[in-house]
Order: sequence, then structure tokens, then C-alpha cells
Amino acid sequence: METWDAITARRATKEYDTRPLADTDLERILEAARRAPSSSNNQRWDFVLIRNRGQLERISKVWPGAAHIANAAAAVGLVAPFSDDLRLTASINYDLGQAAMSMMIAAADLGIGSRTASVQDYALAAEVLRLPDDRRLTWLLGLGYPGDRPLKPIKNPARKPLEEIVHHDRW
Ligand SMILES: Cc1cc2nc3c(=O)[nH]c(=O)nc-3n(C[C@H](O)[C@H](O)[C@H](O)COP(=O)(O)O)c2cc1C
Repeated sequence: METWDAITARRATKEYDTRPLADTDLERILEAARRAPSSSNNQRWDFVLIRNRGQLERISKVWPGAAHIANAAAAVGLVAPFSDDLRLTASINYDLGQAAMSMMIAAADLGIGSRTASVQDYALAAEVLRLPDDRRLTWLLGLGYPGDRPLKPIKNPARKPLEEIVHHDRW
């Protein structure tokens, strides 16, 4: 796919088909995360690639909205240092969002669907993934070929019009 096609074809995939993902495709998706920019290039992130079905099912319990992870071909857990500092947390979240989006675009480029899941039960996540005490699972990214229809550029995405959200020179 062309970059623009991958950007416009990406959508949150809730139904995955049963095809496994090639190791080389997963490596490329993770490489996209590695290459993402981060504040001062601090790279305060780790990525847990989850492919084991039992692990996918267990980790899908960290938030009701993470149920789709149980049926994904794979998931990437985005892990970051835990901090009470709001500014640092905001910076880390910005970096993680960039890594996540890079992975989603790289996946879409390969025809692979993705969907973010939030995390609520941090203790369960830490237990399932055996995380160190100073880290926590921030987000999950489900991956798999879409079970409904292949990815293709979406003409009219469910988004506010540009005129409503873009301000020129001042609000
Ligand atoms: C920060 C973030 C958290 C999200 N959490 C969940 C979630 O817990 N469960 C879920 O099914 N989708 C989740 N999503 C997916 C969004 O609901 C989805 O991206 C949004 O509705 C826009 O749809 P689209 O991605 O198809 O354009 C999340 C997305 C983001 C960016």
C-alpha cells in the first residue's frame, strides 16, 4: 500500500480472522514502534508481543473493552515506567501514542488490522505479563487480519469535518 492508503484504510478492527501473522510482519510492526520518535529520544517503552492463546485470553480481562484481544492473532502490550508526575506521564503517553500509531500504519500497510484496548486492572496485567514493579501495562494493541472485510481506503470516515477542528492563525 501507499502511505496515504495505509493511513486512510486503517480502522479499529474488532473481528479478526483465524489466519496467523507471519513472524516477519510482526517484526516489521515492532520495528515501526522502535523507530517512533520520543521525547529527547528517551524511548521509555517496552513492548510485549503476545501470541500464546492462553495469554491473549488472560490479558483480555484487564478491561471490558479489551475483550477483542482474546480473538486477535497477536497483541502488543505497551509497557512504560510508572510515574506520579503528571507532566512525565503526559510525555510518555504522547510517545506511546506515536509508537502505537506507527504500528497501526505499518500493520495496515500489510493488510493487517489493529485495535487499541485500554487497561483498567493494572495488577492483573502485571501478573499476566510478569512486569517489574516499576512498570505498568498502559495500552494493548490487538492485531490480526480483519474478519469482516479487507482493509481499503475509507472515503467518509466518522470524523468531524476539518472546518470544525482546524483553526487558522488563531482560535
Ligand atoms: C487511547 C485509545 C483507547 C482505546 N480503547 C479502546 C478499548 O478499550 N476498546 C476498544 O474496543 N477500542 C478502543 N479504542 C479504539 C477506538 O474506539 C477507535 O479507534 C475509535 O472509535 C475510532 O475508530 P477507528 O479507529 O475505526 O477510526 C481505543 C482507541 C484509542 C486511541
